[in-house]
Amino acid sequence: MVKVVETVAEVREQVAAWRREGLTVGLVPTMGYLHDGHKSLIARSVKENDRTVVSDFVNPIQFGPNEDLDSYPRDLDHDIAVVEQGGGDLIFHPSVEEMYGKDFDFYTYVKVEELSSGLCGASRPIHFRGVCTVVSKLFHIVCPDRAYFGQKDAQQLSIIRRMVRDLNFPLEICGCPIIREEDGLAKSSRNTYLNAEERQAALCLSRALNKGKAAIEAGETDAAKVRAIITEEIEREPLSKIDYVEIVDWNNLKPVDSTEGSILTAIAVYIGTTRLIDNFIIER
Ligand code: PAJ
Repeated sequence: MVKVVETVAEVREQVAAWRREGLTVGLVPTMGYLHDGHKSLIARSVKENDRTVVSDFVNPIQFGPNEDLDSYPRDLDHDIAVVEQGGGDLIFHPSVEEMYGKDFDFYTYVKVEELSSGLCGASRPIHFRGVCTVVSKLFHIVCPDRAYFGQKDAQQLSIIRRMVRDLNFPLEICGCPIIREEDGLAKSSRNTYLNAEERQAALCLSRALNKGKAAIEAGETDAAKVRAIITEEIEREPLSKIDYVEIVDWNNLKPVDSTEGSILTAIAVYIGTTRLIDNFIIER
């Protein structure tokens, strides 16, 4: 039976009891409204650890002033059922006050330089600082052996890995593959914002990435040409507006001229007013 707790003290107490029994603990950080992407992370944690904690918290400090904090979808009852079915043991569902004090009595942030300014960081300047801060707090609250992150948010995964290395967090970061709808759209809580027409239009992201990947597999090594193929495919969709199409070195997120090394090809595209992201990684 999954337990839902709202305070840091309750999490610490539960995890301490597990530790006394010699059990290992996995953490899956989420903002809730759980879908198959989250489920895959939970499944992996359940497989690799004796106990699994899922945090379910829409983190206000990672949203910019004009972003979707207020409209971000929330459904705790659904999330409890998902974690229960997935074999998770504890849901940490804190209030904003529990995490950041009354009226944001909070001064300390964690920022990973270099990796946070490009890609999504260019249009979301405070986003990754907010992510790193809340994830650091969760790591200190839960003290897991392993924490699970999706490759769907590839820049986030890269930044968290770097943060853990730079700040000596005593845990392992496990990256998990992107889970998609049958027609190719990457699963996302934000897909619920799309109306029927936009839902169809959103297929241009995965379609464009597939074209780019196919070009690389067919021998194209010029990153500018691959970007052009992807851009052109997205621009064929009238409801789309590109935020970025980038090909970067997967080790340092710096733009590359050639697709021959380990690369991340990442895109962010508005479909109507909804901003969607998708990517593929080629590791060599
Ligand atoms: P959220 O968007 O809820 O995602 C939680 C985790 O699920 C992230 O690691 C994300 O990469 C993963 N995920 C989302 N969609 C996925 C998909 N289609 N396939 C595989 N994994 C997927 O990412 C966040 O929350 C927040 O920034 C958080 C890390 C919780 C900090 O607030």
